[in-house]
Amino acid sequence: MIDLADKKKAAKEAAGLRDKIRHHNYRYHVLDSPEISDKEYDRLMRRLEEIEQLFPELVTPDSPTQKVGAPPLEEFGSVTHSLPMLSLQNAFNSDEVVLFDGRVKKLLGDKEFEYVAEPKIDGLAMEAVYRDGVFVQGSTRGDGVTGEDITENLRTVRSLPLRLRKAGGKIPSLLEVRGEVYMAKRDFAELNMRREEEGEQVFANPRNAAAGSMRQLDPRVTASRNLDVFLYAAGTAEGAAFETHSDMLEAFKAWGLRVNPETRICSTIDEAVTFHESLETKRKKLDYEIDGIVLKVNSLALQRELGEISRSPRWAIAYKFEPEQAITLVKDIIVQVGRTGALTPVAIMDPVNVGGVEVERATLHNQDEIDRKDVRLGDTVVVQRAGDVIPEIVEVLKEKRTGREKKFTIPERCPVCGSDVHRAPDEAVSRCSNMSCPAIVKRTISHFASKGAMDIDGLGWRIVDQLVDEGLLKTVADIYTLRQEDLVKMERFAERSAANLIRSIEDGKKTSLSRLVYALGIRHVGVHVARVLAERFPSLEDIERAGLEELIEIKEIGPIVAESIYTFLRQDRNAQVIEQVLARGVTYEKAAPLGLGPLTGKVFVFTGTMKSLKRSEAKKMVEALGGRVASGVSSKVDYVVAGADPGSKLAEAGKIGIEIINEEAFKKITS
Ligand code: IVH
Repeated sequence: MIDLADKKKAAKEAAGLRDKIRHHNYRYHVLDSPEISDKEYDRLMRRLEEIEQLFPELVTPDSPTQKVGAPPLEEFGSVTHSLPMLSLQNAFNSDEVVLFDGRVKKLLGDKEFEYVAEPKIDGLAMEAVYRDGVFVQGSTRGDGVTGEDITENLRTVRSLPLRLRKAGGKIPSLLEVRGEVYMAKRDFAELNMRREEEGEQVFANPRNAAAGSMRQLDPRVTASRNLDVFLYAAGTAEGAAFETHSDMLEAFKAWGLRVNPETRICSTIDEAVTFHESLETKRKKLDYEIDGIVLKVNSLALQRELGEISRSPRWAIAYKFEPEQAITLVKDIIVQVGRTGALTPVAIMDPVNVGGVEVERATLHNQDEIDRKDVRLGDTVVVQRAGDVIPEIVEVLKEKRTGREKKFTIPERCPVCGSDVHRAPDEAVSRCSNMSCPAIVKRTISHFASKGAMDIDGLGWRIVDQLVDEGLLKTVADIYTLRQEDLVKMERFAERSAANLIRSIEDGKKTSLSRLVYALGIRHVGVHVARVLAERFPSLEDIERAGLEELIEIKEIGPIVAESIYTFLRQDRNAQVIEQVLARGVTYEKAAPLGLGPLTGKVFVFTGTMKSLKRSEAKKMVEALGGRVASGVSSKVDYVVAGADPGSKLAEAGKIGIEIINEEAFKKITS
């Protein structure tokens, strides 16, 4: 039985957490200036989720937790925009921009005006509707008049607030904001790498990835894709009036809507051309794709006066960049072997500069892609960079063929270990059949140690390759038998780096169930599926015991994924490795039950060494009683627990008057 007092307490804590999370969202996404670590943020989120799980009636539709969770749709509904979403006319060089400026000047007579220049984001145009500050509907641009209802998908975009900030000034009764959903280059590269490994079709560029993710009928898939948004226009706005476009962007920002920081006011067209040049140089440093600048007359009154023509405003123009493509020659095609044994053909080309970056390799993905594009050795090709990823061959210039070009077929034997290569009938990917293939072993171990998995600092792929080549690592379980004295004998290792690696392996032994499951590298089990499994099952043994039917019944796990999990865990070799990993000291936290306990809301910081307790044990004790442990002293901390040889945290705590307790007192509180 939950008594009323608990619920009241929970409601208060949940409200406090929501405010905090919203504040940190604003700091992170809009101001780009976070105040807390990702870990601390995750902790706030998790705590709020726990409370809402225990008291579902406390969930509000605009709670920061409500970013995922809606069930999949059968199809998208349609939404008619209250004002059409226009498109832009393009300019491809400075002459065309100067002509545009001339037209604007002619139409405005002798009126003074200025421009706002902003990046043209290469993503998917969208509209989000806020009623009384609460996000109620999202749609795609569609044909400009009618778009698709993507409310639930848009809700999952982390940088789109579910509620406007009241601190940002009077909230309009109705605000339709427009902007671009995009995928950051890094997220795009990661997504494609995963898809490639798992034999799924890769996205050609971040824009396609963003559009594909937004058009998912299951919002949970969208949520797993790490999308972002920039807002740059308004449809209908009731209860808000702006004089200029730049004022509107300022208001957006204050309301917590993410606005692109690379925005400039330009008083002349020459300034706009200079801005275009400088942004083109900066382009590759940005973590999102842009394909030009958009130049807009700043005054909204003058915008209205200029009006529109054939669905494009007369007051704006897109001034495009040079495309990130170049022409070069395919000298060779090599084959790489990935974690799942997938053989990926890679074209080796004459080095060429593509949008400021020297390029000499391009992925060819698989045999079907080679056949589809008909890429041959010796071909002249157009290469393109999409984001910061491995470049791609867009097309072959067949008119350049001499007749000496050679067709390429993926070999029937693995180029690394010589074993047979198999291609499943329904797959585009060929795989090495030898699970002990050194290439597979290396990639499997690197994946296991990687950041999102066991997060073993210092065990990057170079070191893994070396350790496998030296025979020190054969499976992931061998990581836990590495000894400092073996490492120091090897090249690249000194006493200190060896000690550091051993320490991070030790530190990494404590993990969570979802990380461990993800780390195993089961095909089709990415971070998201691993989380789903960890939520559904209390332990790894329970996942191992689960029957195929039981796995398929889990909402987010389809038959292919279920089959992959089921067979992986039943292979002797894998079962043995898992057993060894656990026997060698890897432990994980099970999903912690909600502890609305005596320490709910209390924050502890530890400094110095305790006599009878390890930090990790003390932390567990606090968390089991509903409290939490912070790494640094701030006004939010309730207790600083001081052991022997305390650090500077003690003085800091003294300065701001936080209660300092010793080990004995701590034990009393937690007993
Ligand atoms: S303003 C009436 N600003 O470009 C003007 N559009 O070709 C409406 N786009 O559909 C658009 N970045 O998807 C504007 N900073 C920006 C933009 C931008 C990207 C896209 C948008 C639009 C397309 C027009």
